[in-house]
Amino acid sequence: MLAETIKQVIRDVPDFPKPGIIFKDITPILLDAELTRKIVNDMAENYKDKCIDAIVGIESRGFWFGIMLANKLDIPFIPIRKKGKLPYKTMSYKYDLEYGTAEVEIHEDALQDNWNVLIHDDLLATGGTAIAAAELIKMQNANVAGFSFVVELDFLEGSKSLSKYSENISSLVH
Ligand code: PRP
Ligand code: MG
Repeated sequence: MLAETIKQVIRDVPDFPKPGIIFKDITPILLDAELTRKIVNDMAENYKDKCIDAIVGIESRGFWFGIMLANKLDIPFIPIRKKGKLPYKTMSYKYDLEYGTAEVEIHEDALQDNWNVLIHDDLLATGGTAIAAAELIKMQNANVAGFSFVVELDFLEGSKSLSKYSENISSLVH
């Protein structure tokens, strides 16, 4: 089963980026082209009939599968980046992280009105980052069609805070 394979390949790194955190490192997945392709195909199968107009991926690890998924679905990919990285005019949103605070931005002309936008990131922890993405999508008069993650840390209950944006929350492994 795909979820079991992904779990076996993900590497737990204790005490990164600070003591007490067990970091879920998904880079070993990307070393395996066949597994990577299976994951993208699995995600695409899940969304191909859902009328998704675009994928928004969150810097930086949300770019990895986000771009591949958008390309597989043949729809636009839009990056949300950390403050100061996008070159054109932006809209921004501040939020709390599992460790620290952050501000993220989207190009002000990135989304079209009423687009159904799927948010992708590698990992759902507290949900703060995904909420920031959802708020940026709403600022552009687009709809949050759902959330897609590779890994969800269930014990942090991040999905509870996302359900007010969309009930469509999908994670490959928990
Ligand atoms: C990590 C992870 C998610 C976010 C999840 O990103 O990739 O984006 O934290 O945490 P949350 O649900 O509590 O908001 P990070 O900010 O470490 O940056 P990176 O993706 O650039 O490594
Ligand atoms: Mg991230």
